Amino acid sequence: MIDLEQLRGYISDMYSDVARFPRGDFHFPTGRPIMERLGYSQELLDRMPGKAMESFAGVGHHFGLDPLRPGERVLDLGSGSGSDVIHAALQVGVDGSVVGIDMTDAMLDKSRRIVEAASLTQVRFVKGHIEELPFDAESFDCVISNGVINLAVDKTCIFDGVMRVLRAGGRLMISDIVTGVELPQSVRENCELWAECIGGAVEQEQYLELIRASGLRIETCETNDAYRFTQDATLSAAEKFKVRSVSVLAYKPR
Ligand SMILES: C[S@@+](CC[C@H](N)C(=O)[O-])C[C@H]1O[C@@H](n2cnc3c(N)ncnc32)[C@H](O)[C@@H]1O
Repeated sequence: MIDLEQLRGYISDMYSDVARFPRGDFHFPTGRPIMERLGYSQELLDRMPGKAMESFAGVGHHFGLDPLRPGERVLDLGSGSGSDVIHAALQVGVDGSVVGIDMTDAMLDKSRRIVEAASLTQVRFVKGHIEELPFDAESFDCVISNGVINLAVDKTCIFDGVMRVLRAGGRLMISDIVTGVELPQSVRENCELWAECIGGAVEQEQYLELIRASGLRIETCETNDAYRFTQDATLSAAEKFKVRSVSVLAYKPR
């Protein structure tokens, strides 16, 4: 059984490096080039601060599934350097609000500095674990997340938390890593592969079932073929276990 505190330390160390040394040699793609490949619109990317995009470590583009509307209240789980938070803020405008939650200080420091410099007053960041959301019930119209839930050990409590903080009729729009087969114990207990978004990934059908079990109704699930890991060892593990990126849209019933 993987040790939760040790794993969280490992994940935080890896994403602190992504925040501080964005041109580093990672096993997953980062920065604006992968955002372009995943389908982020050039027009919005041109309006985004480069500092946020350089540490982007997401795996998909879920914003097209049901576009955000002006005035909406959005929560981003595992907001990293803030690329998706800023992307969302540009869409909901000053009448809306966007909250990013993350556990890694280096990511929070970076995203807060960037958002302050960009005078995005409708944005705030909260330090915390996405397994214990410190927000009121029914306080968001939309919950987004990009490449994060696979990193958590207890995915059930994350989807239960999403169900609680969404208003009736609200939506979950996420991209994440899933597998085509069940991972062997040796991979699941490897903190390095876990932090690289492989070790904690579950089979696609099991992942969708966890969402359904929380009470959310799945509308769409798309595979993001443009997403590829970057280094040989991770690529071969990804191929062996049919690891892929998917984007999912699900609604909280009214
Ligand atoms: C793969 S990065 C993705 C960051 C961002 N969503 C993006 O697209 O650039 C994962 C982020 O999730 C955060 N994270 C991982 N597990 C977390 C947890 N259980 N609670 C809060 N944050 C978490 C990490 O600190 C890191 O910033």
